[in-house]
Amino acid sequence: MSYRAVRRVMFLVPAERIHTWVFAALRLVTATALARRMLRRRLAPHDPILTSTVFGVRFPGPLGLAAGFDKDGTGLNAWGALGFGFAEVGTVTAAPQPGNPVPRLFRLPADRALLNRMGFNNQGAGELATRLTQHAADIPIGVNIGKTKVAPPELAADDYRTSARLVGPLADFLVVNVSSPNTPGLRDLQAVESLRPILEAVRSETSKPVLVKIAPDLTDAEIDEIADLAVELGLAGIVATNTTMSREGLETPGVDMLGEGGVSGPPLAERSLDVLRRLYARVGDRLVLISVGGIETTDDAWQRITAGASLLQGYTGFIYGGGLWAKRIQDGIANRLHDGGFRSLAEAVGSAARR
Ligand SMILES: Cc1cc2nc3c(=O)[nH]c(=O)nc-3n(C[C@H](O)[C@H](O)[C@H](O)COP(=O)(O)O)c2cc1C
Repeated sequence: MSYRAVRRVMFLVPAERIHTWVFAALRLVTATALARRMLRRRLAPHDPILTSTVFGVRFPGPLGLAAGFDKDGTGLNAWGALGFGFAEVGTVTAAPQPGNPVPRLFRLPADRALLNRMGFNNQGAGELATRLTQHAADIPIGVNIGKTKVAPPELAADDYRTSARLVGPLADFLVVNVSSPNTPGLRDLQAVESLRPILEAVRSETSKPVLVKIAPDLTDAEIDEIADLAVELGLAGIVATNTTMSREGLETPGVDMLGEGGVSGPPLAERSLDVLRRLYARVGDRLVLISVGGIETTDDAWQRITAGASLLQGYTGFIYGGGLWAKRIQDGIANRLHDGGFRSLAEAVGSAARR
């Protein structure tokens, strides 16, 4: 049966429920070392041209699982076996929290998109730290940290610091999330006067690479300010972008009835690419740029790499694309690298932007 047929059946079940079931199935399938080895042999990137060392960490492939799929790190063993080059787990917050009331995750099938207002449902940074101690993943693991909903804005820096202290020693890199649309006031923390103390607090707490994840709905001036701040504070990079508040151009009927939330997938792609281009023009090689938002095909992935992204991530593309998605994209990137005469992935990063 094709993945398209499987997807049609899965899409009959409410989105969050099927996420829970599929995630459980993935954990089951990857539960034994033998199964993981067999899957890895078939799905993981093997072409050395796909490897790169970015902020001191070696990545076997450039496509990672984006934050939000594995919020609590319960699938740490699965992602490498499914062919991802790395995974970003989280968002976790300093204190555990239930997130928003269900339903809070919706499909927009005509747009191949998702709309979510999960609101950082997670078991807390402490619980994730325990899990990271128990499971050594076979790919780099980044941890995305956010603000606990009940923490007031003036204590935001302390809240992020607590998470960084707990998970920092166990992560390959940390991502400071100030861009989810689903925690009231969170995106206001992107204003540089609010962001500076948060990033300083996290930086002072860990020696690991720290990145900041930004929204696609910022103005160009705000993007520039954050990029400059990230360079000034010696951050490792920027993850761009989170989901969008915009409903522009959506074709799925009834979207307005679904309520608030962030949209992911192809409707986000153009803006996400614009943000990447702006960042690369501003910071060049001084920061690592991780591009996420609407990556679905090899063409999308290649466009992001040549526009300046050292690494890529996807969430919605994986849902619509299925278990072979990561392999398909990374095989495609390897072909482009060989066909283009590049000797390494790093050589291709930003090559279109520099022309
Ligand atoms: C259901 C869902 C939950 C998400 N949760 C988080 C999260 O907890 N933290 C975060 O930084 N991003 C979260 N995201 C955003 C994704 O990491 C990503 O930035 C966004 O979906 C755009 O990528 P995509 O178009 O490949 O899905 C979530 C996205 C979805 C669809």
